[in-house]
Order: sequence, then C-alpha cells, then structure tokens
Amino acid sequence: MEIHSQTPNRRGFVAKLITLVLGAVALLVPAAVGIVAFLNPLRQKGRASRFIKLTSLATLPEDGTPRKFPVIADRTDAWNRFPNEPIGAVFLRRVGKDKVRALHVVCPHAGCSIVYDGSSGGGKFFCPCHAASFGLAGERLDKTSPSPRDMDTLEVEIRNGAEVWVKFRDFQTGTSKKVAQA
Ligand code: FES
Repeated sequence: MEIHSQTPNRRGFVAKLITLVLGAVALLVPAAVGIVAFLNPLRQKGRASRFIKLTSLATLPEDGTPRKFPVIADRTDAWNRFPNEPIGAVFLRRVGKDKVRALHVVCPHAGCSIVYDGSSGGGKFFCPCHAASFGLAGERLDKTSPSPRDMDTLEVEIRNGAEVWVKFRDFQTGTSKKVAQA
C-alpha cells in the first residue's frame, strides 16, 4: 500500500524537476549567446566602422574612372591581433578637384564582388554572379535588377590636402535597406 501511495508523488516531483530544468535552460541559452556576442572582440573590433587611409588624390584619374583599392587594417579576435590584414575593398572615383566618392565592392544582392567594366560607353559596374549592372554612381541600371538596392556608398574625407580616408564598414546583403553589420 505504501508503495502505491508514494509513486504518484515521486512522479510529480520528477515532472516538476524536469519542467524547472527546461525552464532554466530556455532562459540561460539566449542569455549565454548574448553575453558571448557582447564579449567577442572579433565582433566588436573586426567590424566596427572607422576611417582608414586608402590612397592619395594623385592616384585617382581626373576623368572619373573608378579604381579599386584594398582596405588594409589591423584585425583583432578573441586571442590575437593581426596587423595590416585585408578586410575588404572599395571603388574610389574622383568627381571633382578635391572630391572623391567611394562605393563598397560587395554586391548588395548576395555578397559577390562587383567589378568595373570600362569597355562599354562611359563604363559601368557589373556583378558577375547574377548579372546586376550599376552606373558609375552605384545606381541600378536595370529595373529588374536582382540587387535589392544600389551599391553601398561610404563616407570619404580628404585629409591634409591629399590623403583619401574612407569610413569603412560592411552592410547586410539581400535587403532593400542599407543596414550596417554589427
Ligand atoms: S550577388 Fe550580385 S547580382 Fe547576385
């Protein structure tokens, strides 16, 4: 008789314990993911936007032909610092005596690298992955373009009269809005 009266109690206790543990796991997993993401130095330092010196005005053709430049910067992850690593690339185009425009080379559609095609007319940008075409200002040339937005512009500063500095950062792909990556 005693055995029959204790079994339901024990079952109830085990069920409560399992519910408690599952509840704790459900709460702790998102919290742990958030803490790891917050503390991960690669996310914080590797992707943060910053002005980087890319070249000098003299290297850019005065006729406005774009030139592609690698973006070199120090990169840091959780354990190491990697000095002078390539972290991306940018098209620079002179549009005035002291005026330069910068476009990110990554296609907003799915992240392929855009190339400059100088063979047609005044030149254009082209993404070889799904054939998206862009004008020299980065605007989509085709109404049915696979790219959901124009090429991503980047802020440019001319410092000390001739140095071209670009505020470099990456953006999310596959969305019509220009959203900087965290
Ligand atoms: S990745 Fe550029 S068009 Fe698809």
